[in-house]
Amino acid sequence: MIRNQWYTVLESNEVPRHTPLSVTRMGERLVFWRNSGGAVTCMHDICPHRRVALSLGRIVGDCLECPFHGFQYDGVGRCRLIPANGKGAPIPQAIRLDTYPTHEAHGLIAIWWGEPRDPVPAPPHFEALDESFSYVTVRDRWATHYSRAIENQLDVVHLPFLHKTTIGRGGRTLVNGPLVRWETHAFERDRLNLWLKNEVDTGQRPLRPEEMLEPNRHPGLQFQFPNLWHNWINDTVRVFAAFAPIDDANTQMYVRFYQSFVRTPVLRDLVNLAAWPFNLLILRQDKATVQTHVPGPSDLRGGEKLIQGDLPIIEFRRRRAELLRGQSAIPEGDTDGPNMAVAGPSTAWLGATPG
Ligand code: FES
Ligand SMILES: [Fe+2]
Repeated sequence: MIRNQWYTVLESNEVPRHTPLSVTRMGERLVFWRNSGGAVTCMHDICPHRRVALSLGRIVGDCLECPFHGFQYDGVGRCRLIPANGKGAPIPQAIRLDTYPTHEAHGLIAIWWGEPRDPVPAPPHFEALDESFSYVTVRDRWATHYSRAIENQLDVVHLPFLHKTTIGRGGRTLVNGPLVRWETHAFERDRLNLWLKNEVDTGQRPLRPEEMLEPNRHPGLQFQFPNLWHNWINDTVRVFAAFAPIDDANTQMYVRFYQSFVRTPVLRDLVNLAAWPFNLLILRQDKATVQTHVPGPSDLRGGEKLIQGDLPIIEFRRRRAELLRGQSAIPEGDTDGPNMAVAGPSTAWLGATPG
């Protein structure tokens, strides 16, 4: 997993007001809890004293109390009380916990998974999903690395096959482009914008990415590093996904159906609920196949034989590899100003195993 990123890892309503939540994310056992003001703390779920799970304890004011001997820890991981030593006793500095900065917005909780920074840059979100939208969430656990789950959502070739009974109806098997452009949003080159145009194959040659018209419409798909995705269905309907890494072999999916065409409170909730089974069905159509990938993260050197339509996956892998190497240099081929990069050079890899 890539360090020094904001990872969306939970929905807000998973962390109760008065009870700690134990959950595995990023391969680590973590505890999330809320202080008296409702602010969320994320810390390792291991008491430094005798190393039992803090999540079995209780919230006391602005501290989390260990169930074993009652040590209390505040929101930055400092021990504030060792009952056996008495209230007035000094607390050894060594008795403390690592915490991750948290950010809660849009009904989601993100953690800054990396080295401390002051200030930590603001976590990204899709600004097109404004407060005029309401949503319903499908949660699903997939037995795959989160990079594989992300790539599935960038895979524009699979639609008429895995989803031939749902969103892939119509037999539009021919993939033009797609056109991929990078954008700087919260961090350098962290957002992938994608325009696609699948068609019924009548013998025509698919357009190469560079032949697709300069987009003057909103991208159909967007991916925001490290783990957010947005599908612009139309002005009033969207699908959003967060891919929360549980560990190297499992991903917690949060897929939301967003709409703004019905805003009356009760009616709005009914419409959203009605969309839930359809979205679950689509997700399950993907899940069965994606879980059969070779285990582990996706990789440029994974031995796959990629085609032109896989360009978004190639771009994702390239940037992911850069971030894993700790590099942030703008690669050659950026021709569209300081913040944008056209994905043309990647096509050199097509038809061969990228390496
Ligand atoms: S193990 Fe937590 S207080 Fe002793
Ligand atoms: Fe799919």
